[in-house]
Amino acid sequence: MQDDSPGGESWVSLSVWSPQVVQEAMANFLVEQTSRGVELKGNWIKAYCRQGEEARYCLKQLHRYYKDLQQLYPELPTLKVLQENLQNEDWAETWKTFFRPIRIGSSIVVKPSWESYESSYNLFVIEIDPERAFGTGNHPSTALCIEILEHILGSVSAEEAHSSFSVLDVGTGSGILGIVAARQGAQLVLGLEIDPEALEAAQRNVDRNGVGEVMSVALTPLDQVEQTFDVVVANLTASLLTHMADDLAGHVSDKGLLLLSGILAEQVEEVAKCFQAHYFKVVDSRATEEWRALVLRKDK
Ligand SMILES: C[S@@+](CC[C@H](N)C(=O)[O-])C[C@H]1O[C@@H](n2cnc3c(N)ncnc32)[C@H](O)[C@@H]1O
Repeated sequence: MQDDSPGGESWVSLSVWSPQVVQEAMANFLVEQTSRGVELKGNWIKAYCRQGEEARYCLKQLHRYYKDLQQLYPELPTLKVLQENLQNEDWAETWKTFFRPIRIGSSIVVKPSWESYESSYNLFVIEIDPERAFGTGNHPSTALCIEILEHILGSVSAEEAHSSFSVLDVGTGSGILGIVAARQGAQLVLGLEIDPEALEAAQRNVDRNGVGEVMSVALTPLDQVEQTFDVVVANLTASLLTHMADDLAGHVSDKGLLLLSGILAEQVEEVAKCFQAHYFKVVDSRATEEWRALVLRKDK
């Protein structure tokens, strides 16, 4: 398949014909699935995905969701989806129109760097330009991590937070989770990435959020990082998490926590079992729709 997008990735748009009665539900569903905004034109909803696995997964989920909607609204016609490969010029600018400020947890707002936001004193506003990286906060797997990080860092005593509370963000993407941790009081944050383009976006986001003294980002492979951390967060996929279980577990300090996300409901057992073999047990979990995030602690 020809790959002609500026960042070396190809994108597709999915135009979904949606009767009025389910339009809002379907638009929300597509925003959650793709972690990007959607365009509404009459009865058509247009969503954007990376070609390949991401688009296939999104379509599969869409068919499943539409079937559920048909149970509720038997009059719905057959699902109609038009798929179009995008030319390289469009993507980088098109999706920006649809990324809007989003409130997560009790005190965090993630907003696009190019938009202003009227903040109140009790909110932490995080500015993100993901460029071509994952991580706007719109995807449930990211939002669940943000909620949990807020909770963990909120329950760390001021003394601990001000001494040396450390967070490792494996697969930092836009840098969003590390930046949240830094803004919530972590004193040392390391974001790891394998995609150089994402890493550059993450560095720019670190700078624009003024957390450069606390957070650094690197392409260093996890197995070459020597220190351990109070929290290791990884929003990846179930198969990557289990594949990297040894390394992820090995970077959590004795009393530390492991926060795993990007897991679907039916994959929870497999992931929990795998980490059990590394002496970690699940102490908390959160769910949004079919997405799950797990908090694990060393099981001594
Ligand atoms: C689902 S995104 C998560 C981005 C962000 N942390 C968030 O929660 O929105 C996963 C990221 O992990 C990166 N990644 C995948 N495998 C990795 C690995 N072995 N080491 C570091 N990063 C990895 C991908 O390039 C991608 O940017």
